[in-house]
Amino acid sequence: MTDLAIPDLDRELLVELEPEAGRLMDRHLKVAQEWFPHDYIPYRLGRDFDKEPWTPDQPRLTGVAQTAFEVGLLTEDNLPSYHRLIHGMFGKGDGAWLNWVGRWTAEEGRHAIVLRDYLTVTRNIDPVQLERGRMTQLQQGYDHDAPDTLHGLAYVAFQELATRISHRNTGRYSKDPVADRIMARIAADENLHMVFYRDILGAALKVRPSEAMRAIVDEILKFQMPGAGIPNFVRKAADIAKAGIYDLRVHRDEVLLPIVKHWGLMELSGLDAAAEEARQRLVEHLDQLDAAARRFEERVARSATPRVATG
Ligand SMILES: [Fe+2]
Ligand SMILES: [Fe+2]
Repeated sequence: MTDLAIPDLDRELLVELEPEAGRLMDRHLKVAQEWFPHDYIPYRLGRDFDKEPWTPDQPRLTGVAQTAFEVGLLTEDNLPSYHRLIHGMFGKGDGAWLNWVGRWTAEEGRHAIVLRDYLTVTRNIDPVQLERGRMTQLQQGYDHDAPDTLHGLAYVAFQELATRISHRNTGRYSKDPVADRIMARIAADENLHMVFYRDILGAALKVRPSEAMRAIVDEILKFQMPGAGIPNFVRKAADIAKAGIYDLRVHRDEVLLPIVKHWGLMELSGLDAAAEEARQRLVEHLDQLDAAARRFEERVARSATPRVATG
């Protein structure tokens, strides 16, 4: 395939899938509930910062719970970069594709609003550190080239589910009913986003099975959470994994497998040789992840870090 063939395939695909994107967008609008960040914030706890500055003894959330909220918010804060990429992916289509870009962006914006308001009013995080983290992260941006349509769709399907689960587990881990309610609300949005991307890529698998399979496997093999530009991200992600909020087991069993099964990737027929080879790599990768997750679980079982209660 030449470089020039990629945009052609994208354009053709976007046109071909536009009716399905329209149907999925209508379904989304029917099931998405309107909600307001101010309904979720305990404003009675608010005090002026000029009269009573933030001090480290004020947060009720500490340790990994605090880290997970910080990473969750800074990840949501990077929306301008995600918007640029999603627009790059779908901007070559029109109608339903552009309507989705707008709607999705507007919904995502609410996530950072509610998280910042919660963390500021409750003083659960140093507001200066938070704002500096946001500045660092946004100035750096999310520095990736806009992917082609199939790779982009595969990434966002997994990423939305990953975000859903890490937000949900962050809420549970906090043991704060207010935080838990906020995270459950955001997680419900992320789930609907995942369902849109999963199902539009499901439609792409029917018309371009081999290309779609290869794109999905590429994205699974190099998957990275979008927060990599956050200061000290590697250490923070390791703490979050140790707490079970997002670790290899969650990634394999609760993010990759449900979507792979939903698409029926292992049963798909009519693939070309390269796509068959990609599927084989996927099987091996899932086995390797399982083994690595097992080793990780054995290691954390011996550590003192409290783990999230799931189920
Ligand atoms: Fe979000
Ligand atoms: Fe989302």
